[in-house]
Amino acid sequence: MPDVFTRLAPEIQKIEAQLHAQPELSFEEHATTRLIEEVLMRLPGFSRAELGLTTGTVWRLTGMKSGPVVGLRADIDAIRQEEQVQRPDRSKYAGIMHACGHDVHTAALLGAAMALSEMRESLCGDVVFIFQPAEEILQGAKKLIAHGLFEKAPLDMLFGLHNQPALPFGTVGIKEGPLMAGKDDFVLELHGKGGHGGMPESCTDPIVAACSLVNALQTVVSRNVSPLDAAVLSVCSIHGGTEENLIVDKVRLTGSLRTMHEAVRSRALERLQAICETGAAAYECRAELRIMPLNGPVDNSHAMTAIAKRAAAAACGIENLRVAQPSMGCEDFAAYAPYVPSFFYFLGSGEKEVDNPLWHKPDFRCASGTAVMGAKLLTSSVLAAQGTI
Ligand code: NI
Repeated sequence: MPDVFTRLAPEIQKIEAQLHAQPELSFEEHATTRLIEEVLMRLPGFSRAELGLTTGTVWRLTGMKSGPVVGLRADIDAIRQEEQVQRPDRSKYAGIMHACGHDVHTAALLGAAMALSEMRESLCGDVVFIFQPAEEILQGAKKLIAHGLFEKAPLDMLFGLHNQPALPFGTVGIKEGPLMAGKDDFVLELHGKGGHGGMPESCTDPIVAACSLVNALQTVVSRNVSPLDAAVLSVCSIHGGTEENLIVDKVRLTGSLRTMHEAVRSRALERLQAICETGAAAYECRAELRIMPLNGPVDNSHAMTAIAKRAAAAACGIENLRVAQPSMGCEDFAAYAPYVPSFFYFLGSGEKEVDNPLWHKPDFRCASGTAVMGAKLLTSSVLAAQGTI
């Protein structure tokens, strides 16, 4: 297998550079989708699954022997960010950048497509390649599912990956069970009674209630969640008031809850609701709380973990396997889990002895060669799932 990737590396890296230079925002990945399809159209054994998508694309490689259908997923969108690194393939669009490395993921999946196409005579089962739009807004996976992904391309298992600057290039992070957080957003409106700033006794001031509530909400994680479990509850915006001499009627707060387990989530939501209602009432205000579940946790299949370890060992050497540290960030790969056993890797992308910029930073970049290593890992995942390595 290494020989295949040594040969394919220049093409994979060329594709990565093309994608990096033409970043597109969520659900606007038209040129990206064209580029992906141009590569896949010329590969033997590939056919497109017709899902009626505007952006993103799903393709099937038919194996010559029977076996499980394995899905491989890459996200393809970029974010609003101004690239600050001078490089030959710097983003040609002002204010848009592949600052999360989805260009690397896309190039890796195309590299796996090229390699697996060459191996199709010996493939024991079909492979489905999912190039998913709009991960950054956590909507792309839901869109593919709504367009009949699992009816048109039923899968037995699914693999995905994300680059991880905290892990050195050449390593792969693996973890059984929860890896990335689920997220619920919330909007809290506090209703009081406005009036003259000099006559607070005739008003009920929602700003005072809001200040108290922001502090009280800190107790959800510190007092209601076990210190051995992970949760984040943050108020991220407060809006209320216009003048220095008016008490306002209403304050609006927004925030989010991130958790790894359903039991922790439901307890935290219960306390969020109770604290908002009783806390507002203590200040003679009324709370209106709206909770918007956004995404479940990425929870790696127990049954697939041994396969993933075998695949990663084949791709990068057993000495380069690492236990992945969970992240409280979100990933809409989680949306597939109710439909198919799934596994998500962290792919080492940090340069050695460098302070590597994190995701979404204007100087973000993956170590050179990350896409090729990703292609190897995804290819190995298929072979391990089919039982041939
Ligand atoms: Ni990302």
